[in-house]
Amino acid sequence: MRVSVAAFAATLLITGTAAAQPASAHPNPVPLRTLAAGTGVRIGTAVDMAALAADTTYRGTTAREFNSVTAENVMKWESVEPTRGTYDWGPADDLVRYARAHGQAVRGHTLVWHNQLPGWLTAGVADGSIDSAELRTILRNHITKEVKRYKGRIYQWDVVNEVFEEDGSLRESIWLRRLGPSYIEDAFRWAHAADPKAKLFLNDYNVEGVNAKSTAYYELAKRLRAAKIPVQGFGIQGHLAIQYGFPGQVAENLARFEKLGMQTAFTEVDVRMILPVDEAKLATQATYFRGLLDACVQARRCTSFTVWGFSDKYSWVPGVFGGEGAATLMDEGFVRKPAFTAVGEGLAEGR
Ligand code: XIL
Repeated sequence: MRVSVAAFAATLLITGTAAAQPASAHPNPVPLRTLAAGTGVRIGTAVDMAALAADTTYRGTTAREFNSVTAENVMKWESVEPTRGTYDWGPADDLVRYARAHGQAVRGHTLVWHNQLPGWLTAGVADGSIDSAELRTILRNHITKEVKRYKGRIYQWDVVNEVFEEDGSLRESIWLRRLGPSYIEDAFRWAHAADPKAKLFLNDYNVEGVNAKSTAYYELAKRLRAAKIPVQGFGIQGHLAIQYGFPGQVAENLARFEKLGMQTAFTEVDVRMILPVDEAKLATQATYFRGLLDACVQARRCTSFTVWGFSDKYSWVPGVFGGEGAATLMDEGFVRKPAFTAVGEGLAEGR
């Protein structure tokens, strides 16, 4: 191990950290997953199943660099049950099989969310053909079926995703409106019954530091754990943007959840910028990735650090945030950016 870290450090000296290097011209001697091995933190990526099937560079990089994977879309409800009672587990099964073949752990994402719900479900709730009692049964069946299918193969599940507003009030989703706030604890109980060993997470964005939203999660987690509801993790998505600054009190935030006996994780990290890209922006971006990674590595129970895609070629950012992009560790040609180097250095120093 010492030898490989030294080799990695030597490569940094030779290539420098400022300029991005084509992966093919300067093969990284030490994959991120190797550097992560001694840190207690799994290094993960979201996986785009279409890219995994079609793009050999994408496939090779996923296997080489990461020891944790998250389905970017294919475990979401609209993907697994597009028609009521008709399931499509194919792409999710493919990811779990791929992960197993490459010695990767799988994060499950996500069981209860207000987005990417199947049309039959949202339409049925809207037109009244699915009443509240039936909706609760449908949710229980969905959670039970999906968690059981992958029992023993998923180490962390994002059970509920994005349930709070920025001000710390519960989000007005169909779940809150139709089932009331108890849907959250029900979801954890049902998931735990289906796979008692999986670590069950809350997950959201804009909760990196201490703020009204993360404090609402803290209060929720404290209450649920006091009531012996099986919630074991706090997932911080980590969708940052350099124009908004780096969040304050990240370490303090992780520490307060860990004091409750919970794990923490960064689950969807990317750092976007207003285009066009320039060197200064890329350098700032690198410090943001490194800031979140260091907080994770230094925390006692931060168990995984997952990026939301590793190449700009497949990033969700440009499609959603107009005029922004370049949010991942590699550019569209899989050229490593300073952020990639920074993550490698952070892992190497964290061992
Ligand atoms: C995004 C995917 O990246 C996109 O491909 C999809 O079109 C929409 O969802 N928070 C989450 C993720 O929890 O599931 C979202 O993923 C990004 C924001």
